[in-house]
Amino acid sequence: MRITFIVFALAVVVSASSTGDQITYSVVSLTGGKHSMSVVVDNVPYPLSQSPKVPILYTGTAPKAAKGYSYAINAGTNGTRVEPFSRKQTSESTPNETFGRQWNTFPLSKVEPILPPLPAINRVESPLHIDGEIPTIYLSGNQTALDNMHTNSMEDISVSFSHVLLNSPHDVQSFSDIEIGLSGHSSRLFEKVSYNLKLKKKAKNHLYGYRRLKLRALATDQSYIREIIGYDVMKSVGIASTEYSYVRVILNDKPLGLFGFLEAYQNPWIQNEFANGDINYKQGILYQGKYRTTESLLAGVISDLSYYPNITNYALGAYNIKANPANSIGDYRPLMEFTKFIKDAPTTTPDAVQIWQSNLDVESFLRCIALEILVGYSDGYLTMSNNYYLYYETKAKRYIYLPSDLDLIMGSGFVSTISMTTGNYSDFPGFHLRPLTNKLMQVPTFKARLEELIVKVTKELFNLKTLDKRIDDVVRMITEDVAWDQALPRMGKKFIPGSNSDSRVPKLTSPTIDAETQKDLYSKGSYSLSFKDAVNGPTGHIASPGVKEFIKWQSENTMNFWRNTTGKGV
Ligand SMILES: *[C@@H]1O[C@H](CO)[C@@H](O)[C@H](O)[C@H]1NC(C)=O
Ligand SMILES: *[C@@H]1O[C@H](CO)[C@@H](O)[C@H](O)[C@H]1NC(C)=O
Ligand SMILES: *[C@@H]1O[C@H](CO)[C@@H](O)[C@H](O)[C@H]1NC(C)=O
Ligand SMILES: *[C@@H]1O[C@H](CO)[C@@H](O)[C@H](O)[C@H]1NC(C)=O
Ligand SMILES: *[C@@H]1O[C@H](CO)[C@@H](O)[C@H](O)[C@H]1NC(C)=O
Ligand SMILES: *[C@@H]1O[C@H](CO)[C@@H](O)[C@H](O)[C@H]1NC(C)=O
Repeated sequence: MRITFIVFALAVVVSASSTGDQITYSVVSLTGGKHSMSVVVDNVPYPLSQSPKVPILYTGTAPKAAKGYSYAINAGTNGTRVEPFSRKQTSESTPNETFGRQWNTFPLSKVEPILPPLPAINRVESPLHIDGEIPTIYLSGNQTALDNMHTNSMEDISVSFSHVLLNSPHDVQSFSDIEIGLSGHSSRLFEKVSYNLKLKKKAKNHLYGYRRLKLRALATDQSYIREIIGYDVMKSVGIASTEYSYVRVILNDKPLGLFGFLEAYQNPWIQNEFANGDINYKQGILYQGKYRTTESLLAGVISDLSYYPNITNYALGAYNIKANPANSIGDYRPLMEFTKFIKDAPTTTPDAVQIWQSNLDVESFLRCIALEILVGYSDGYLTMSNNYYLYYETKAKRYIYLPSDLDLIMGSGFVSTISMTTGNYSDFPGFHLRPLTNKLMQVPTFKARLEELIVKVTKELFNLKTLDKRIDDVVRMITEDVAWDQALPRMGKKFIPGSNSDSRVPKLTSPTIDAETQKDLYSKGSYSLSFKDAVNGPTGHIASPGVKEFIKWQSENTMNFWRNTTGKGV
């Protein structure tokens, strides 16, 4: 079986491979399947031919344009669809452009860093996420096996691909093995599903040093921007985490739509994040906090970092060992010792701060908690004891805290938006429930640091004055892709919004959950918001306020609370 996995170059301009007045035009079609295409140069069409290796790419030579050019899809009896805009004439061969998209690189305003990266971070430079570009990933494989995976979306089925080819802006690489599976839990409910990509471990079988990647369906987020803005904010605050970009995905002859593209915290991710990609780095153990399983719930165990004297409790599924330490097989003993440390650690002795610091990069945790609160993380450590990682970093010989999966933020989720945006951080749902926050807040230095971080992040970053332009730029960049995405048929099993009786709707139990909000998350209304309303609000939906609305409420209430409680203008 022959499989192709391609990321297209968008921004690279080929140095004049043109002969005389002829240049090469190259365009990616997002339609899928076989059809013919042409380039219309100064109103004259010239045929392009489908690349035999890369079926979504059409190329051909035609004269340089005097005025401009457009691409056209010839859809047989349906006539010809010409791009409704003219591209600027060029005297060089084009990069791999995309049909219907006017730009190859979209100029986006940046979110500047407000804090230096945590000292443990030593992230490899890579072109994995290029700001302002949306590459296209083309996957082809056994359709029967893929259909089977989509039909049984609640099962863990993965489809193996035998050959993979990758074409990126700076490199063309060929792979021989990739596995695709569905990812997430509640996200499998939706008709547009998310995927995990695994490039199997063998020589040269990696994408810029990464082998585990995720394609995020964005099914619960009608604004399409929550995660990218969330990761912008994480990066600005210097936290260890994946970066994030968008990709278009075509699977065999069917377009799947616009996806978020991010890194899974699985090998070789650790060496890329903490050791500049050094394959000889002696890594430590990586634990994942994943809330609970049926089994752990029976024993009363969720991944909130409570201490249990019986080690079996750690192995009931609430935690996972996501990466083993170098040259050995990890177990739950170090995690058990760490939770015991949390339980017994000093809080007010003169050496308390130093003892904490030598066991945990406390700053990593406090930055993440400040952000969980401000971005309204409805599925994080505070609210659900979920979606975080603890990595034992071997150079500093202490744990560092990592956040993950920011899909349910900024009011989207099952925790009441009102309770997340009172402005009083210690009122945030779950703040008093979690052992690590409780204990750290008893250490005056750390409590003061959390408050300082909340005010600093609100003032310098998490407010509309700082983020408005970035949001507007990202929205402009993805507008055509969102319209394209929304019109596509879906692969996953049908879900009727509003049918909370659907056995697939997760039965979550946590005092932080608001039943009305949870119901609204799976309702038809939240589901059918327009892109514009979902970004700007007002939406009239408690489980999905506009992204800008949420940021406005949160930043204003936080600053008001601060002024009120300190009596100072901040
Ligand atoms: C023509 O349009 C119809 C309806 O949109 C579609 O089903 C069909 O596949 C199209 N034919 C071609 C050749 O694109
Ligand atoms: C466009 O894609 C083709 C086919 O994969 C590749 O050979 C070519 O180098 C790409 N063009 C650019 C400008 O990257
Ligand atoms: C495709 O997958 C199906 C179902 O998993 C399997 O029965 C079939 O043999 C596969 N076909 C090929 C050509 O590998
Ligand atoms: C430890 O917990 C497991 C699972 O809950 C239980 O089966 C076992 O009896 C416990 N061991 C002790 C010594 O309590
Ligand atoms: C903030 O919330 C905490 C915890 O819910 C509460 O004890 C405290 O009084 C609140 N602070 C103010 C100023 O309202
Ligand atoms: C701040 O004080 C004003 C005036 O007393 C009050 O209306 C407002 O609710 C307070 N805001 C917060 C977030 O505490």
